[in-house]
Amino acid sequence: TQKPREEWTGQVGFIIAAIGSAVGLGNIWRFPGVAYENGGGAFLVPYLVALLTAGIPILFLDYAIGHRFRGSAPTAFRRIARWLEGLGWFQVMICFVIALYYTAVIAWAVSFFVFSFDLRWGDDPAAFFTGDYLRLADPGVSLEFVPAVLVPLVAVWVVTIVVLALGVAKGVQRANTVFLPLLVVAFAVLVVRSLFLEGAADGLNALFTPDWAALGDPNVWIAAYSQIFFSLSIAFGIMVTYASYRRRRSNLTTPGLVVAFSNSSFEILAGIGVFATLGFLAHEQGVGVGELEGISGPILSFVTFPAIVSQMPGGPIFGALFFGSLAMAGFTSLLSILQVVSAGFQEKFGWTPRQASVRLGVVSAIISVLLFSTTTGLVALDTADQWANNVGIVGSAVLMSVLLLWVLRRGPELRYHLNAVSTFRLGRWWQVLVAVLAPLVLGYMLVSRIVTLVVDGYEGYPAWYLALVGWGAIAFMVLAALVLTALRWRRSPDDFVPWPP
Ligand code: PHE
Ligand code: NA
Repeated sequence: TQKPREEWTGQVGFIIAAIGSAVGLGNIWRFPGVAYENGGGAFLVPYLVALLTAGIPILFLDYAIGHRFRGSAPTAFRRIARWLEGLGWFQVMICFVIALYYTAVIAWAVSFFVFSFDLRWGDDPAAFFTGDYLRLADPGVSLEFVPAVLVPLVAVWVVTIVVLALGVAKGVQRANTVFLPLLVVAFAVLVVRSLFLEGAADGLNALFTPDWAALGDPNVWIAAYSQIFFSLSIAFGIMVTYASYRRRRSNLTTPGLVVAFSNSSFEILAGIGVFATLGFLAHEQGVGVGELEGISGPILSFVTFPAIVSQMPGGPIFGALFFGSLAMAGFTSLLSILQVVSAGFQEKFGWTPRQASVRLGVVSAIISVLLFSTTTGLVALDTADQWANNVGIVGSAVLMSVLLLWVLRRGPELRYHLNAVSTFRLGRWWQVLVAVLAPLVLGYMLVSRIVTLVVDGYEGYPAWYLALVGWGAIAFMVLAALVLTALRWRRSPDDFVPWPP
C-alpha cells in the first residue's frame, strides 16, 4: 500500500505555516535598521517596488514549482528536468548551513528571555553579551564549551527534532498554529507599550522622515531587493517545499498575497516598535536618535535592547516580550528551513519523517553544538550568514530563473498552473518579471556583492579565515549537492506516488 503525500489540513494551515516561515529574525532586527539607513520613509518606495516586481512574482514561482511537481526542491526540480536535481540539493544545503547558526541565535534569545527577569546583563550589556555570555575569542580554533549557550542550544534542537518528527500537519503546522498567534499578541503588546515611552515620537520621526535623495542611490535599491528576498524566504527551497504539501487543485496566488502582505505588515510594525524604543534610549541619553549605535542585527537585540530594558520602568516584562518574540519568530522560520532538508532526504532515500528528523537533526545538532557553543564558532556565525545570504541565496535565485525560464522555457506552463485554480489570475507580465527583471536585478546584486567580498573582505577578518568559513561554506554546499545528486534514489515501500524520476 502506498501512503499519500503529507498535506496541510487546509488553506489556513498552509497560510499560517508560510507566514511563520516568512516572519523571522529579519523582520525584527534587520528591516528597521535597513529602512533607517536607506532613506527612512523614502525607503518604502524601493521596498514596495521590490515587493511587487520581484518578491511576490518569485514567491509565486516557488509555489508553482512545489505545487505542480509535488516535491521538495530536489524532487521537484528533477521532475522538471533530470539534470536540474542538483539545484534542488544546492538549495537544501543552503538551508542546512543556515539552520546550523539560526538555532544558535534562537538559543541566545531563549537565554535572554530568562535573563530579562533579573536583568542578568548588569550595567554593561555589551561586555556581558560578547564576554560573559558568548566568551567570544579571536578567529582561531578552540574547543572550550560555553555552557550558557550549550544548554539552550541543545534544548532548541530537541524541540525541533520532535516537531519535525511529528510530520507536516501534526508537527510543523501545529507548532505554527501555537506560536504564530502568540508571537503576534506578544509583539503587538510590545509595540503599544513602546509608543508610550518618552522619546517614542523622536524615534518614529527618525525612522519615517523621508530622505528622497536616497532614491537616486542604486545601493538603496539593492538593499530593498535583498531585504525582500531574505524576508519572504524565497528562492532557496522553502516555499517550494511548503507548497508541495498543498492539496491538488488549490488556490495558490491569493494565499501568496496574504503571506507577502502579512510579512511586510509585520516588518513595518517591528520598525515602529524598535524605533519608538530607540527614541526612548536617545531621550534617556540626551542625544539624537541619529547618534545611537547598534541599531540593527545581533547587537540591536542582545546589547542595545538589554540596555534599554534596564532603564525602563517595567523593563523585565518588556524584555521578556521582546526576547520571547525573537525566539518564537526564529523558531517558526527554523522549522521551515529544516523541513526543506528533511523532505529532500525523505524523498530521495525513502526515509520516514521520523527517521529523517532524528538522523538529520542529531547530525546537525552535533555540528551546530561544536561550532556555536564553543568560543571558536561564534565568530564564524556572522561570516557564514553573510555568504549564505548574499552568495548562496542570490546565486540560487539567478540560477533558478535562468535555467527554468530561459533554458527550459517553462514559464507559460507554470503560469497556467498558477492560474488553473487561483482566484487572482496572472497575466504575461508575471513571466516578464520573473524571467527578465528578476535575473537582471539579482545578477547585478550577485556580481557586485562578490566583487565587494573579494576586494574588501569582510569585517576585517583575515583572508584565510574568510576563505575557510565564507567561501568554504559555499564550496561545501556545492560539493555536498553534487554528492547527493549522484547517489541513487531509493524507494520506500510506503512512498507517496508518483515517485521520481
Ligand atoms: N524570512 C525570514 C526572516 O525574515 C528569514 C529566513 C531565513 C527564514 C532563512 C527562513 C530561512 O527573518
Ligand atoms: Na520576513
